Formats: sequence, C-alpha cells, structure tokens
Amino acid sequence: MENGRADTLQIRQVLLLFVLLGMSQAGSESGRFSVAEEMQSGSFVGNLAKDLGLEVGELVSRGAQVVSNDNKRRLQLDINNGDLLLSESLDREELCGSTEPCVLHFQVLMKNPLQFLRIELQVRDINDHSPVFLEKEMLLEIPENSPVGAVFLLESAKDLDVGINALKNYTISPNSYFHIKMRVNPDNRKYPELVLDKALDYEEQSELSFILTALDGGTPARSGTASVRVVVVDVNDNSPEFEQPFYEVKIPENSILGLIIVTVSAWDLDSGKNGEVSYSFSHASEDIRKTFEINQKSGEISLTASMDFETIESYSIIIQATDGGGLFGKSTVRIQVMDVNDNAPEIAVSSITSSIPENLPETVVMVFSIRDRDSGDNGRMICSIPENLPFIVKSSVENYYTLETERMLDRESQAEYNITITVTDLGTPRLKTQHNLTVTVSDVNDNAPAFSQAAYTLRVRENNSPALHIGSVSATDRDSGANAQVTYSLLPPQDPQLPLASLVSINADTGQLFALRSLDFEALRAFEFRVGAADRGSPALSSQALVRVLVVDDNDNAPFVLYPLQNGSAPCTELVPRAAEAGYLVTKVVAVDGDSGQNAWLSYQLLKATEPGLFGVWAHSGEVRTARLLSERDAVKHRLVVLVKDNGEPPLSASVTLHVLLVDGFSQPYLPLPDAAAAEARADPLTVYLVVALASVSSLFLFSVLVFVAVRLCRRSRAASAGGCSVAEGPFPGHLVDVSGAGTLSHSYQYEVCLRGDSGTGEFKFLKPIIPNLPPQCPGKESEENPTFHNSFGFNM
Ligand SMILES: *[C@@H]1O[C@H](CO)[C@@H](O)[C@H](O)[C@H]1NC(C)=O
Ligand SMILES: *[C@@H]1O[C@H](CO)[C@@H](O)[C@H](O)[C@H]1NC(C)=O
Ligand SMILES: *[C@@H]1O[C@H](CO)[C@@H](O)[C@H](O)[C@H]1NC(C)=O
Ligand SMILES: *[C@@H]1O[C@H](CO)[C@@H](O)[C@H](O)[C@H]1NC(C)=O
Repeated sequence: MENGRADTLQIRQVLLLFVLLGMSQAGSESGRFSVAEEMQSGSFVGNLAKDLGLEVGELVSRGAQVVSNDNKRRLQLDINNGDLLLSESLDREELCGSTEPCVLHFQVLMKNPLQFLRIELQVRDINDHSPVFLEKEMLLEIPENSPVGAVFLLESAKDLDVGINALKNYTISPNSYFHIKMRVNPDNRKYPELVLDKALDYEEQSELSFILTALDGGTPARSGTASVRVVVVDVNDNSPEFEQPFYEVKIPENSILGLIIVTVSAWDLDSGKNGEVSYSFSHASEDIRKTFEINQKSGEISLTASMDFETIESYSIIIQATDGGGLFGKSTVRIQVMDVNDNAPEIAVSSITSSIPENLPETVVMVFSIRDRDSGDNGRMICSIPENLPFIVKSSVENYYTLETERMLDRESQAEYNITITVTDLGTPRLKTQHNLTVTVSDVNDNAPAFSQAAYTLRVRENNSPALHIGSVSATDRDSGANAQVTYSLLPPQDPQLPLASLVSINADTGQLFALRSLDFEALRAFEFRVGAADRGSPALSSQALVRVLVVDDNDNAPFVLYPLQNGSAPCTELVPRAAEAGYLVTKVVAVDGDSGQNAWLSYQLLKATEPGLFGVWAHSGEVRTARLLSERDAVKHRLVVLVKDNGEPPLSASVTLHVLLVDGFSQPYLPLPDAAAAEARADPLTVYLVVALASVSSLFLFSVLVFVAVRLCRRSRAASAGGCSVAEGPFPGHLVDVSGAGTLSHSYQYEVCLRGDSGTGEFKFLKPIIPNLPPQCPGKESEENPTFHNSFGFNM
C-alpha cells in the first residue's frame, strides 16, 4: 500500500506537469454537470462516458481518474460505467458563500495518451437556510412627537441562501402605528425601514412591541423573526392641570397660624421631570405673600400670619403648577375670611364738658361716637350707663351719642360723679368697652351761710377787761370757694338806744365777739343784738342770728344797810320796855345788796353787844330780838353792832350799830314828842309825804306780789329747760336772806318798816330807793317783750 500511494503521488506530479504542457497543445474538452447541494454522497451526478463521448473501456484502459484543483475528492468516477458520483455531500454555502453560480472545477485525467478532460460541476442552491436576524431583540426609542411618516431603521436579517432562496421581504405583526418598508442597498442587501403611520402618544401608550419577520423566496419560504420594542420617549407636551379650576374655602379670621387651609393638586401626564409638578403663587400681592404660604411639593396652603376680616374680607390667590419642562397650569383659590367677634367696641369722645355748674337744666356733658369693627351681630352695640345716676345716654345721629344730665344737679349733695359708659356688642362672646369719666359739679352760690345756732347766749362776767373775747358765732356755707367764704358783721340793734358799737365788736373773719368795755351787771344785765353772716358769692347770700349777752354778776357790791340809817346825825335808837318778854322784836336790820344771786344772799350776825346774851339777831331775817327776860339789873343803854355779810366770793360785809334803850312802862303817850311848834311847822309837808309814801309803798307792794307770782311761775316753767333767768339757782341756805333784786325789800318787812308807828316820828325816815333799776325777775322772757323795762321802771321820791 505504501508503495502504491507513493507511486500515485509520483504519477500525479508527473501528470500535472503534462497537463500543464498538454493544455497548451491538445484541445481540452469539458463536461458540465450540475447537482443540488446537500445531496447524499454516492448520489449520481452524470455519466462521464456519455457526456464526453468516451468508451467505457477506454476509461478503464486509460486509467481515468477525477482530480480537483483543491485536491479534495468530492467526486468519484465509476470507471466501469463512467458514472460520476458524489463522494460527499456538498454544501453550497460552504463552498461558494454568496457567489452564484457555484461552480466546482474538476479534471479527468487519462493516460495513454495523456488527456485532461475538464469537468464543471455546478452546485445548485436549495433553500436550506432561513433568514436570521443577528439581534433577536431590537429596541427603538422614538420621541412621542415624531411626525407621521418618519422612518426608522431596523436591523436587517441574513439568509445564506442565494437567489430565489435568498431574503425576499420583511413583514411586521399588524399594528396601528407602523408599517414596514423594505429597502435595497446598492449592494443588493435588503433592509427594513419602520415607517410611522400614526402619531405616538406617550401618555396613551408608552411602549409597543411587535415581531419583525424576514421571509425568503424559497418554496416553501423560510422565515426568521426578531422582536422589536418601541419605547415612546416622553416629550413635555402636557401642562400640569389642576383638579379644580377654582377652589373656595371659608375660614374664621382668628384661625391659628400654621393651619392648612386647603390642599391643591395638579397632575401632569408627562413623566419624569416633565411630570413633576411644583406649586407656587402666581403674581401674588404682598398681602397674600405675608399671610399665606404654599408648599411647593404638596400644594398645601397654610396660614402664616393672622388675618383680619375688618381689613381684608377675602383673598383670591392664583396658584400655578409648573412641571420640570416649564409648562404650567393655573387655578384660583378664593379664601373667604369669616368674621369673628374679635373686636371690642370702641368709644371716641368728640367733646366733653367735665365740669357742670349745678342748678343747670338738662345739659350735654359729652358727645361721643362708638363703633365696632366687626360686622353683623358682632358689630351691633348697646350703650349704657349705671342706672342710679342722674344722667342719660341719648342716641343722636348714627353711632353718635350724647351723655346728658337728667335733671338739675346739686353740688352740695354730690359734687362728683364717676360715670362708666359701657358699650357691649351682640356677638358671641360679647365684648365690651368701658369709658370712665368724672363729671364734677361746679358750685353756684345757692346756699346762704347757716349759723350753727339760731340764737347764741353768751355770759360775761361783769367788770371784765376791755377787749375780752366773750364768745364766737359761726356760720357755715355749703357752697365752695368764694361762695363759702363767710364774713360776719354786727347788724344795727333793734333798740336804738343800745350803744352796741361801744359794747361789742366782731371779727369779720372768725366770728369772734369781743366786749369793748367793762360791763356792769348792775347797770346792764343783758342785751341782745343780731349778727349777720354773708358769703362772697355773687350775688352774696346772708343770714342772721341773735346773740344775747348776759352779764354775770360779780360780788362787787357790799351789802347796804337800809335800816337803820347809819349816816344820820341822830343815831337810831330803839326803845324796849323792860317788861318785854324774851323774843321781843326789838328792831329789824334791813340791808340790800346791789349784786344778785348768791352775791345778794345776806346773813346777819351780832358782832358786838354791850351785854352779850341779851339780844340776838336772826341770821336770815336780821330781826333783833331779846334773848331773855329783861331784869332791873340790865343797863338802860345798849349798843349792838350787827354785821351784814353777803354770800359772794369773797364775801363783802357791812356793819350797823344799833342803840337800844330799855325803858320802863313803855307806851305811846310817853313817847317824847318833838316840840309842838316844830311839829306844826312840819305837819303839812309831813302829811303830804306820808300820803305819797303810803301810796308809793302800797303800789310797790302790789307790784312785788305780782312779780313774785310771776317769778314763781317762771321758775317752775324754766326749771326743766335750763334756766334763762339770770338769778343763780341752787340750794338756798336757810340762814341767808335773799335780797336779790337789789333793793327789793322783803315785802312783808318793807311794809312793817315804813309803817312802824311806834318809832318816834322824828326818827321816821322815808326810804328812798337807792338802786335805780329794779331787777328783771325773768330777763330771758320779759326782756324780749319789753327790753327797756328795767330802764324805764323806777321811781324817785
Ligand atoms: C413584501 O411584502 C409585502 C406584504 O407583506 C408586499 O406588499 C410587498 O410587495 C412585498 N415586497 C416584495 C419586494 O415582494
Ligand atoms: C371717683 O373716682 C375717683 C378716682 O377713682 C375717686 O377718688 C372718687 O372718690 C370717685 N368718686 C365717686 C363719687 O365715686
Ligand atoms: C372704670 O371704672 C370701673 C369701676 O368704676 C372699673 O372697674 C374699671 O376698671 C374702670 N375702667 C377703666 C378703663 O379705668
Ligand atoms: C344819809 O345817806 C343817805 C344816802 O346815802 C342820804 O340820802 C342822806 O341824805 C344822808 N343823811 C345825812 C343826814 O347825811
């Protein structure tokens, strides 16, 4: 075998050489055969003998064999019958690729003579390949706004087959957006184009897929597919749109800060940034920006500053939603502020009169206006003042009120009013405002000064020092200021004879009364006058009061002995019969005291006696009586000194000397008579004196009785009500005799003294009243009726 092969190899090389040479020499004949690809090995290709006109034997004899250029044994020759058979299955695509026709060249070598026969074998294509896409999945991104008719390139498919079996057409699964158009390159390559039939809308369909099919022209046709995914690229073709074109909200004005009032929302059909919406206010006023805030992302509108219905009742806010691509939509939010009773009423005073003269009829005190910045019931108001005041509130023109006095005011009863004006609104809760004002009532001179007493009684001790302050009057005036400044004055006395100006003076400012000179009780026991008080108002008002000055007695008068007279040249001598029994009334010492009251209470006592024990003096009566029976041994002449003492402080006294003669058989006829001539000479005038004296004394007695009765009655009636009588009251000491009344003789003795016939006529003396004025027994009463009584009364002898 080895040798065989080596031999054939040698032969071949030789042959090749011959062939090369022979080709040029000997004319070459060729046979053409054709066979379909992919035939099984051994398949019959053609009969060499027949086609080339060779004898079968010749083939064997000449040792015919098939050689190929590439030394591959694809054909084999059956030399017995000259059939060419495939020694292997042929793949046209492998052998020729896309070259068409696919021809294989063979030589048939024969020796003796050497001859080359050319054989061409065409391998025919069969449709044994399907079109194939290199990319099974294709992705196309197409902006949604691409115009209809736009063309997009797709990957082409490959089909290894050629000719009719090659790629023929492309199709896509039916859809409404695209159709396919096949294009042919200059190099005959076929590729598909996608043509847009209908506008894409990302928002409607953001993605679509279809199958691209490539078909070849074989029979049956083969196909290959690929999937095509078209992604629609969003274009910002949609503006954000609000859910509502108009939002309306109502919120109370006192809503808390931070409150979310409303949430707006807008959508955008675009995606990604184009669909991202942010919210903002569009051309908002300063007020809106101050008061509200919008959350850029969430669309929440919140309150950032407090609202005031009274300032702004509603807000209209244009809000804008903007997407990432700059498109925007708008909506309006209307915020209605609801009134809340958050404003108290206000009071504005237009005019005010804070001081009002009293006694004025209805007067306007204040004009004021009220207002409430709320509306509705929250703004309706009621105006009031406390009820117990003499003021009223009147409504005048709209919201204007006046505060007026209801009646005349009286400063003296209330000089000041604190008025609280209350204004309340009708909201819920009710709010109120108060205004306080003080109205003062100014004075008008409507009150006269008033004396503290209608009548003043002043007591002045006699013998006072001049300019002594004896008392005060005072008057008050209920007015104020000058209207209440009181000046005092003395009014002209009713009794024109009373020298008032020289008696008292008054301090015009203080009302103090002064005695101008020393007063003498014995001369003037009492006097009265009127004082006036006037204010300084205009016109001035005045009033008056009565002042009664009582001069109080001082013990400045010693008792004065009326009987027996002391200054007579002939001392008074009493005759006492020796036969007189004990207790015989010798005489009676009569004394008076110019003072009154206690100062005039007199007591008598025996100061000296010639023979003590024989005579006694009754202390309160002044009666001198014998103390025992007289005896013969008693001296004839006795001298008695009787002391008369008043009860003043210190007491004053007087003494009187009595001469007593003890006589035997004392009787009228034995009385020594004055000599007849003298008696005759004096008879006539004496008789006249006697008659006059009798009449006088009788009338005096009668008057005394009357006065006594009057005094009793007066005392009784005045006992309870503070004695107006000048006579001092008090326990009357039993040993004293009251001779108040200066010279009022004790009535019973008066008579006795004057009529004692048993005294010698020569010693009979008439009493001449020494005290010119009789005392007023009840000055409080009588002096008013007859103030000049004591001046006019009296008698002279
Ligand atoms: C390809 O196929 C379509 C229909 O699928 C047809 O309308 C078109 O004419 C065909 N093209 C070719 C070149 O055969
Ligand atoms: C008015 O008010 C003033 C001050 O508050 C007070 O001093 C005065 O006594 C008051 N007057 C009356 C009449 O209430
Ligand atoms: C007004 O007066 C009343 C009492 O009279 C008092 O309660 C109130 O506080 C006063 N108001 C003002 C504003 O002074
Ligand atoms: C005695 O005194 C009285 C009164 O003082 C007087 O009137 C009278 O004349 C006097 N008699 C004599 C004698 O002096």
